[in-house]
Order: sequence, then structure tokens, then C-alpha cells
Amino acid sequence: MSSSSPSVLTKEDIGRKLATVYAPIAAELVEAERIFAAELASRFPFVQNLVHHCADFRGKRLRPALVLLTGQACGALTSDHPVLAAVVEMIHTATLVHDDILDEAFIRRHAATVNAEWGNETAVLMGDYLFTHAFHLAASLDSTLACRWIGHATNLVCEGEMQQVHNRGNIDLDEAAYFEIIRGKTAELTAVSARLGAHYAGADAATVEAMDNFGRDLGVAFQIADDVLDIWGDEKTTGKSLGTDLDKQKLTLPLIRLIAMSPPALADRIRHMVAEPTAETREELRPHLESSGALDYAWNQAKVYAAQAGSALEILPESAAKGLLRNLTHYVVRRSA
Ligand code: IPE
Ligand code: IPE
Ligand code: MG
Ligand code: MG
Repeated sequence: MSSSSPSVLTKEDIGRKLATVYAPIAAELVEAERIFAAELASRFPFVQNLVHHCADFRGKRLRPALVLLTGQACGALTSDHPVLAAVVEMIHTATLVHDDILDEAFIRRHAATVNAEWGNETAVLMGDYLFTHAFHLAASLDSTLACRWIGHATNLVCEGEMQQVHNRGNIDLDEAAYFEIIRGKTAELTAVSARLGAHYAGADAATVEAMDNFGRDLGVAFQIADDVLDIWGDEKTTGKSLGTDLDKQKLTLPLIRLIAMSPPALADRIRHMVAEPTAETREELRPHLESSGALDYAWNQAKVYAAQAGSALEILPESAAKGLLRNLTHYVVRRSA
């Protein structure tokens, strides 16, 4: 393991709060960052420049933290853990690079998106580059298990994204279909991150299953919060383009709830606003979301899933890592970035 200073993690793009959350796994997280950059290195300056862009502008590192914290909470970390942490972050980054093309987003992690800076063709290929390297790196482990589990998860992530594209402009999308989409596109990766962390720390089958449930419910809560922030958040704080769900006519939980609980005339007006969004739609929807209670409903649903994630941790013995995983269940429903 690297002995690099944990202070590397307190760069401006990882909030102080999160740096504290990650402190016990700081050395392994730094090692994962090293593996991430080494795996992606290219002899071509153009490609290397793109790699730098994706490695330098860091996100919250939630998925690698899940691998490492569940590993620590379930037993002992091994040299496989930082590799797995790098793999899940690479997969996540690939999905973001592709997602920003689909959403025509300009800002990601407080910097230009790959599509905005280099164009869609380069962004498609950079996403592919990240995906193939993730599997190449996972295949460096002795067993094929991680490849199989991660492959299964990414199959479902892609299906979730395709279902979302297919439902663009579907103003009748209901909650069940919404949850199915977010379970695929977001929760599969957080679930497999927690599952891998546990399994590679030698956890028994019941504990591995519990960590899978933990990661899955945490991911659902995380995505509901993200969808609220898309309408309610501030771009300077999130560091990414917001309002893209509305621009792309994607119905998310607060809007589904608002439509479902509004009197017919208002529900029709909201459906029309969603079907033909303008630059003002986000602002116009906010008071309705607030006064109807649809906003509170969405936050409460996120809290229900976060609490369920917290319950899945009960199988673990008390430890500092378990405490930090519990903190994550609180963080995901209070976050503003
Ligand atoms: C963004 O994920 C995509 C979603 C699943 C909502 P994060 O919010 O974890 O993105 P980064 O890694 O911190 O940038
Ligand atoms: C998350 O959905 C997409 C992935 C899981 C890749 P969003 O489109 O809401 O993610 P952000 O808001 O752009 O980060
Ligand atoms: Mg997006
Ligand atoms: Mg979003």
C-alpha cells in the first residue's frame, strides 16, 4: 500500500466533510488513484491529456470508498481492494463521460465535460477507453469473479440508461418505472462496489448479500437526491450542469409525484411544461413542487432508502468503518453536491 499523505485527499474538489469520512481508508484511496492513472496511461499525448482531465477533476469517490469501507468493516483489506476501487471508479467515470453526451452537459466536476471540450466523437471513444480499461484492470486479479460481477452490474447499468432514453418525453412515467430505471443506472454499481469490498475481505455469503443490499439502497437514495438537486440544486455547489433532466424531458420522482397529486387541470399544465420545456421551466416548477409537498415526498423517499441501507449494516460488528458507512447513509440524503 502507498504511504502517501492522506492530505492528497483534501484537494478542493473533495469537501472537508468527505475527506473526514474517508480518512481511515486514505492510504488505500491514494493507491487506487495511482492504479487508476497507471492503468489509463497512454503514449499518445492527445489520449494522455484526456486521461489527465478525467483523473484530475475528481468527484466524491463514493464507489471506491464503498469498496474500501465495506472491506474494512467486513474483515481486512487486501492488495485487491485498491484495484477494485480503481475499477469501479473507472466504470463510473465512463458512465459519466457518456451520460454527459446524452444530456448535452457542459460542466462536470467543476470543469468542462469531455464532450464540451473535445466534442462528442472523442467523448464516445473516451468513455469506451475507460470501460475497456476497467475490465482489463479487473482481469489482472487472480479470479474472474470480479469481472463477472462487474460485467453483470454494467449490463444492468446500460439497460437502465437505455430505458431512460426510451422513456424520454413519457409524461405518464410512473414511480415503479422510475425506480426500475434508477436501480439499474445507479444502484447496480454501488451495490457491486459494496459486494466486492465484502467478498474480497473474506466475508461470508450472508454478509456479502447484506452489503449488496446496503449498496443498492444507498444508490437509490443517492440518485433520488441527485434528481432533486437537478431541479433544486446550485451549479456552483454541485459543479455540474443542472436542469438537464428537464431539458431532456426525463421525468424524475419529484415531478412524477407532483403530477400524480395535482388536480387534473394543473397536472395537465405540468405535463405540458415537461413535454415542451423552456429556459424558464425549472423556475416555474419550483413553487409547485414546494407547495404540493412533492419535494418533501422525494426527500422522504430518499430517507426511507437510506434508512433501509442503514439497517443492512446491522449484520456487521461495530467498527470505525461501519460507523463511516452509517455516516454515508446520512450524508446521501443531506448532500448539496
Ligand atoms: C453522478 O455521480 C451520477 C449519479 C449517479 C447521480 P456522483 O455524484 O457520485 O459523481 P462524482 O463522481 O462525485 O462526480
Ligand atoms: C446518472 O444520471 C447517470 C449515470 C448513472 C451515469 P444523471 O444524468 O442524473 O447524472 P448527472 O446528474 O448527470 O451526474
Ligand atoms: Mg446527466
Ligand atoms: Mg442528475
